[in-house]
Amino acid sequence: MDKIQIGTVGLGLMGCSIVTCILVAGHPVTALTNNIQQKEESVKRIEACLLQLKEEGILKETPAAILQRLHVTDDYHSFNNHTIVIESIIESVDEKKKVYRQLETVLATDAIIGSNTSAIPVTLLQAGLQHPERMFGIHWAEPAHITRFMEVICGDKSDITLAEKVVSLAESWGKEPSLLRKDIRGFITNRIMYAMLREAFYLVENGYATIEDVDRSLRNDLGYWITFAGPFRFMDLTGIPAYLAVMKELFPELSNDAAIPATIEKLVEEGAKGVANAKGFYSYTEATARQWEELFTDFSFDIRKLAGKYPQNIGDQ
Ligand SMILES: NC(=O)c1ccc[n+]([C@@H]2O[C@H](COP(=O)([O-])OP(=O)(O)OC[C@H]3O[C@@H](n4cnc5c(N)ncnc54)[C@H](O)[C@@H]3O)[C@@H](O)[C@H]2O)c1
Repeated sequence: MDKIQIGTVGLGLMGCSIVTCILVAGHPVTALTNNIQQKEESVKRIEACLLQLKEEGILKETPAAILQRLHVTDDYHSFNNHTIVIESIIESVDEKKKVYRQLETVLATDAIIGSNTSAIPVTLLQAGLQHPERMFGIHWAEPAHITRFMEVICGDKSDITLAEKVVSLAESWGKEPSLLRKDIRGFITNRIMYAMLREAFYLVENGYATIEDVDRSLRNDLGYWITFAGPFRFMDLTGIPAYLAVMKELFPELSNDAAIPATIEKLVEEGAKGVANAKGFYSYTEATARQWEELFTDFSFDIRKLAGKYPQNIGDQ
């Protein structure tokens, strides 16, 4: 059966890896950019993602054959007859809403609009749409052509039956999606990750541990089990009562500070972006920053292979 044509908006870091994932799953893709002069650069980025997958032995086709299915455009009319379009532009409510208004002028009333927002409530994004019930968060993790993560998020007005369709479609792309039936800022992973980040800053800024010590502990503890288990399965595996006992003592002492940590504010003021500009919590040269990026890509492939060896459906009804 022919795969449906999928639309995307935005060809930045995530837009390119999202397009790669969908192309590899066999769909033709219409990718809209606001910077058509950079079309070649974006196609090169997608090609680079495809080459990574080829090197890992994951591709059935050649990158050149896959790229034949890609159409890059800056014209919203190219989305005529598309049944799903996924937006992945900058994290700005106003900019994203402008995109949805344009999409509604060309899409059928039941075509799905998805947003790769990291943390904007979907209810906020769907407010003012002519057909808000077809709007969802479709939250990917970078690099989207490698990771299995996806959260499909309903806003207050979303139609859950359409959300279930998105979940099935994403499963056919090799994703393992979670469905959020009710909207909440930050969704699942970002809520939990930011709670962890707040505590990490608390420990460092109050002199309990260094940045290196926090990273080392987390990598060697949580890092060893979280891909396999998730927090609830982990409590089952390691004995539930101990967690209850610790919660009683520890919850009142965890950081609950709403203020932004001074350390990150200062770094950003000084222009730090992380390995992207070789300036971050750690010191880098251009060369070591590139090395860290490459290692992270290699690790993402390895962890994907490792996770694939361990079924997660034992005992499912
Ligand atoms: N980077 C991540 O790890 C990550 C993870 C999950 C979700 N997200 C989310 O994905 C989205 C994109 O993030 P990114 O990291 O790819 O950012 P990015 O800055 O790399 O890319 C954003 C792209 O959007 C384009 N753009 C801006 N306005 C546009 C418009 N009106 N029409 C078309 N294109 C437009 C820009 O030219 C740029 O290429 C954000 O909402 C972000 O929060 C990012």
